[in-house]
Amino acid sequence: MCGIFGYKGKEVKLSCLIEGLKRLEYRGYDSCGVVSYNLEKFLCQKNSGKIQKLKKDLGAKLNDKYSSALLHTRWATHGKPVKLNAHPHKSFKKNIYVVHNGIIENHLDLKKKLKKKGYKFKTDTDSEVVANLIASFYKNSIEKAVASAVKKLKGAFALGVLSESEPDKIVAVRHRSPLLIGVADKGFFLASDLPAVIPLAKEVIYLKEKQIAVLEENKIKLYSFEGKKLRVKKEKIEIKTEEAKKKGFKHFMLKEIYEQPKVLQDSLDIYLKDSKINFDQLKLTKKYLKGIKNIFITACGTAFHAAYVAKYFLERHTKIKVEVDTSSEFRYRDFNVSKGDLFIAISQSGETADTLAALKKAKQQKAKVLSICNVIGSSLVRESDSFIYTPAGPEIGVASTKAYTTQLICLYLFCLHLATIKNTVPKEERKKILKELSKIPFYQRKILKQNKKIAAIAKKFSKMGCFLFLGRGINFPSALEGALKLKEISYIPAEGYPAGEMKHGPIALIDEYRAVVCIAPKDHLYEKMASNLQEIKARKGKILAIINPADKEILPFADQAIYIPRLNYQELSPLLVAVALQLLAYSVARNLGAEIDQPRNLAKSVTVE
Ligand code: AGP
Repeated sequence: MCGIFGYKGKEVKLSCLIEGLKRLEYRGYDSCGVVSYNLEKFLCQKNSGKIQKLKKDLGAKLNDKYSSALLHTRWATHGKPVKLNAHPHKSFKKNIYVVHNGIIENHLDLKKKLKKKGYKFKTDTDSEVVANLIASFYKNSIEKAVASAVKKLKGAFALGVLSESEPDKIVAVRHRSPLLIGVADKGFFLASDLPAVIPLAKEVIYLKEKQIAVLEENKIKLYSFEGKKLRVKKEKIEIKTEEAKKKGFKHFMLKEIYEQPKVLQDSLDIYLKDSKINFDQLKLTKKYLKGIKNIFITACGTAFHAAYVAKYFLERHTKIKVEVDTSSEFRYRDFNVSKGDLFIAISQSGETADTLAALKKAKQQKAKVLSICNVIGSSLVRESDSFIYTPAGPEIGVASTKAYTTQLICLYLFCLHLATIKNTVPKEERKKILKELSKIPFYQRKILKQNKKIAAIAKKFSKMGCFLFLGRGINFPSALEGALKLKEISYIPAEGYPAGEMKHGPIALIDEYRAVVCIAPKDHLYEKMASNLQEIKARKGKILAIINPADKEILPFADQAIYIPRLNYQELSPLLVAVALQLLAYSVARNLGAEIDQPRNLAKSVTVE
């Protein structure tokens, strides 16, 4: 939800640190700030608004060199997104600076106690409470003061701490909010996420739950919250810088839409070798998988839509009962998963608070937990019994695209792996499905080639007041996902609905000012979709049909059409529908001059509830 960046080393230009923070801007961008020390003096500058404004205000100071620094870009949780509430926060006494990502659930109680000790507060933020709490424990060791303070905190927090009394140390804390350390020749870089350190560091240290790191010029010390000294484990950074750049595309989102054929091919190359599905790295035995009675899948947002698509496919091919729910609902339900159940958590970032909480609940109830995740070092992966890595690469655009279709193809492959073990899919049919799955990257490229045509269609629909996305069966979740893509980057109200529900209310919405996107590939529900379209046409709805080429029945009723290749196994069509609707959403948003990569009020990773 926020981005932390920091540095401890011999010296580095402030401009390099600001660029590092900029690579975290997708995590939150309503205010930002920096505190830095250059062996003589401290500089502290904070701003409301984006990092570009902070850069302008810093001016020539960007060329100055510093040995210690903490930087922060914020997505407001407590306190308005104004300069006063921007990080870093300085303690009332003892001049201790704190940057924070997360939510302190007991901050009001702590604030009351600190006020009784004479501490004054300038803001309503929970982060300022952390700064004063550390100060209240400070004697002559900043790491000891931090260790005492974090024991009093409840909630999720990643912290960076810098004391004016010990300016040659940066203290970092991780608890239910991501934090890592890039190890470079010029020193150590603290960051909330890997893309920020990729251009700078060759190795990375992922802080684990309840760990405190003390960064000094040439060394890092690592402790548990209880004060136990821990071994520092460095891992090689595999991802190259160019992967995290726009590569000539106008937006990260467009680059990531176009990367889908490649990353889906990468997924096939990892998990499907010579038509053999390969999940050998799974730490779930074949005996356990064979005995699974129920599957529960939870996720948020786009990942939830991937879960929903998987439900249809899993039930059809494995004959196992599958329940899906959003993580934010599942975690509070009075509902227990049983020991023999498989609990799947899907997440691009692996840091979504609700999904982490849902996973923890399932683990407490002794279910086996499998995560499907795009970040190997993430909390979700660390907390799971086993995980399937989606090789989508860094996804910078807040609107998820390549992570979604990579989740889907990995779920399709896992499902067929499970069906093979349970012997619920005939060998010949499995071979045909896998053969078609292998062609999906090629089919996606055919849709990407329609980008100009889709942009022209988008132009005609951009002024519509609201959108209804309709689908049936496995493409009902495609309708949900199409609606989410459009609304989150264009801000046009959009709703996904099961087409069969139209008569139960939504058809009242239909008139000439409503756009209706109907997902109607030639599958067993096609005729039903055709009737839905006729009902909409009769009420003057503006129809955009997502159909197969040479469609005769629906085309006459549609105002516009986007064609997706016809598959022998139309249950794979969500992998194609997604690309068409991503391009539609992107083009509509572009027509409206929207922000696209960093939509208002959103953040890439929702690490707080
Ligand atoms: C997707 O376009 C959204 N940005 C959002 O719904 C996202 O899918 C959701 O927050 C889940 O994130 P995760 O996959 O990192 O858990």
